[in-house]
Amino acid sequence: MEASASAPGKIILFGEHFVVKGAPSIVSAICRRVYVRIHEDPHGRFTVESDRLGLRISTRPGEAERLEGPLAPLSGILRWFHEHKGVRPGPVRVVVRSEIPIGAGLGSSAAFAAAFALAYARLHGLRLSQGEIEEASLAAERIAHGRPSGIDTAIAVRGGTLLYSKGTAPERLEVRLPEGYTLLVADSGVLRSTRQVVEHVIYRASRTGGSGEALYEIARMLVRDAIEALGRGDAERLGLLMDLNHGLLYALGASSLELERLVFAARRAGALGAKLTGAGWGGSVIVLVPVEREHAVRGALVGAGAREVFRTGLGCEGVRPEE
Ligand code: MEV
Repeated sequence: MEASASAPGKIILFGEHFVVKGAPSIVSAICRRVYVRIHEDPHGRFTVESDRLGLRISTRPGEAERLEGPLAPLSGILRWFHEHKGVRPGPVRVVVRSEIPIGAGLGSSAAFAAAFALAYARLHGLRLSQGEIEEASLAAERIAHGRPSGIDTAIAVRGGTLLYSKGTAPERLEVRLPEGYTLLVADSGVLRSTRQVVEHVIYRASRTGGSGEALYEIARMLVRDAIEALGRGDAERLGLLMDLNHGLLYALGASSLELERLVFAARRAGALGAKLTGAGWGGSVIVLVPVEREHAVRGALVGAGAREVFRTGLGCEGVRPEE
């Protein structure tokens, strides 16, 4: 008995944080994935091995629904299966292989949750709907992040590029990067807690007496402008909007010195726009670059402290079974 699945990481092109309070956002699946393989454990234990977390835990199956620390979200999914499908954890070995850096704002935890939910369902011969995989994954995200908007889960499950607003069905966007431009992701290597940044941003917006809240209206307009710029292939406007979005996030306290260094270095080296992606305080920035400046911008990002820089496409495939 064995089952495998994988799910993609993501970049938020526009609208992180604002999405938590109901504004629209644009999110795209990247082609880096988390792979989960589950098979029977010959020693009767519930074992999890993760290469990126550098972690191996082994417990009695009866205790798997009460894990703490980095695997607490996994217990949330197991409890979802217990409650909704009558499945109790058995003696299995879960092997996780991830191409996505952890804590980098690239949706590694939601990708893990979605891949685990699908692999676990397959292992038990269950066919889950897309909505059910999202629900099971969200059970994990709630433990990891407190009050997630659901954006990371939606993109890990559905893939593609989505116009996402909390509580409404996501709309698929058929968008491509403008011809002659590429998107770079630079990981600052600084780990942070999404939950803390989200609470900090909400607090700052609420304490300004209205002007902070007004930024949410600008964020809405920005997403509309971005959809138009993407549709027209208008790279210059897209870059300007990325800078503007970063400015809003900076204003609400989501940036950090490390991220500012990356954003400024990229712009100086010829990027059209740069912004943090995900929660901020650390994690990654995304950068829109004319292809002929890619080499220079990569060098500038590494010089400014990026731990890893990679090119990404948009709209990769959502959660899927693996053989
Ligand atoms: C995290 O990828 C995106 C945030 O907007 C939080 C959320 O939407 O749940 C910061």
